[in-house]
Formats: sequence, C-alpha cells, structure tokens
Amino acid sequence: MVVIKNITKIYNDRKVLDNLSLEIKDGEIITIIGKSGIGKSVLLKSIVGLVRPEKGKILIDDIPIMGKHVYSLRRKIGFIFQKSGFIESLNVGENVGLALKYIHNVPSGEIRERVIDALKKVELDPKVTELFPSNLSGGMLKRAAIARAIILNPRYILYDEPTTGLDPIVSRTIEELIFNLNKKMNITSVMVTHDLNSAVGISDRIAMLSGGKITFLGSTSDFINSSNSDIMEFRNSYYLKTGE
Ligand SMILES: Nc1ncnc2c1ncn2[C@@H]1O[C@H](COP(=O)(O)OP(=O)(O)OP(=O)(O)O)[C@@H](O)[C@H]1O
Ligand SMILES: [Mg+2]
Repeated sequence: MVVIKNITKIYNDRKVLDNLSLEIKDGEIITIIGKSGIGKSVLLKSIVGLVRPEKGKILIDDIPIMGKHVYSLRRKIGFIFQKSGFIESLNVGENVGLALKYIHNVPSGEIRERVIDALKKVELDPKVTELFPSNLSGGMLKRAAIARAIILNPRYILYDEPTTGLDPIVSRTIEELIFNLNKKMNITSVMVTHDLNSAVGISDRIAMLSGGKITFLGSTSDFINSSNSDIMEFRNSYYLKTGE
C-alpha cells in the first residue's frame, strides 16, 4: 500500500501540491485526472522519490520513501514516463535490459532471457530487440516502456499518460495491457490520464487533482454520477472535445 500523508511541494512560490493526502490500495488501478500543469506528474514523481516534497511523508508498504530507503523502495515501483525516456543510441533490447545490467549486475545471458520474457508479456515480438527506439510506433514504444518496467518485477507501476498521442484503437490495446498486468501479475497501478475513456474503462477508483489537493475520490460509477463541480467541468469539456 502507498500512503501519501499531507505532502506539500512548492515550485516558484506556488504550492503545486498543498497538504495532499491519498492512499493507494493494494491491487487496485487508481487514475488521477486534472488539468494540464496542475501537478499530476509531480505527484507521481513524488511517489517514486524523484521529487521531494517540502512537507509530509510517503510510505510504501509502511516504509518512508524519503531518506536512506529511496533506492530499495524504488525497485518495487515501475515508472512509465510521459515521454518515453529511452536512450536513442541503444537498441530496444539494450534499453529494456539496462537496469538489469547496470544496477543489478545480472549476467548477459540471463538479461537476454528476461528481456524476451518481458517483451512477450507486453505482446511485442522478440525481434524488436534489434530495433532502435526511433523505429518503433507510438504504441510499440509504450509497450517497450512497460516491458522495461516489468522486467524488475515491480509491485507498483505508475503510468504517466500512457495513451496520450496514440490513436483510439491503439489506446484501447494499451489499456487492456495495463488491466491485464494489474489482474494477472497483481501489479498495483496508478495512472495519470486525460483520456476519460481510459479512466472509466479500467480504473477501480478515480481521483481528481485540483488546487494542490484531491478534490474528488471515488469509484468509477461515483465519478460518472458525481455532481462535484470540478468533475462536471472535466466531464463536459471532454464530451465537447470528443463529441461523445
Ligand atoms: N522541476 C520543476 N521546476 C519548476 N517547476 C516545476 C518543476 N516540475 C514541475 N513544475 C511545475 O509544477 C506544475 C505542475 O507540473 P506537472 O508536470 O506535474 O503538471 P501535470 O499536471 O503533469 O501537467 P500535464 O497534464 O501538462 O502533464 C507546473 O506548473 C510546472 O511548471
Ligand atoms: Mg504531466
């Protein structure tokens, strides 16, 4: 379980996160929504220790992520960055296996096996190992990024806008993958998205970030039926944008 307790993160005198609390339950898919620039990525990065809040604490399985435990806890958490985060000069296989080689000193034969296994789990052909990131389509890149995360057998995966920039059909296949990893490998999942179809389609709970705080938290059906003004505004703008 991830417990976020009263965290405040300030950038340029603005409290991007303002005394924010949230609990992420084991086994769930929780989706965080909110306007651009509101602090969703900052919140995700705080959970994995890439951003350090000025106040408050974050506990991963009862252990604070701040301080000396950061590196061991970080291994429990896979992070799918908003931008792919691949090294362009390395091929996909080298990128997916990078952490095994440099952080965990795994022998090269075993790395190869584990890379292939991770690629299979995200339904990518093992042949993509030889390709470079710039050769992959957007959907394949997301799958490769997920492979790079699951190769370390994480308990948690944080997905920062996993379907942004993908066409609706590819987006649905990425959602399906996130859903299946959550169910089959029991990976607790936190997703940030602007895509209400994704949010409603696969989440157990949805949280709205606004003004540095969680202003709504509830099940998907609570979200669909909510008369909270932030939620109504978000839902309406989405329907207007997509015409759905
Ligand atoms: N390292 C940083 N230095 C200064 N300001 C930052 C830094 N990181 C984030 N911010 C600021 O914090 C605010 C929240 O940023 P964040 O990236 O979390 O937004 P977001 O909700 O993820 O937006 P988007 O939906 O566009 O990805 C922004 O105003 C941003 O400029
Ligand atoms: Mg963001």
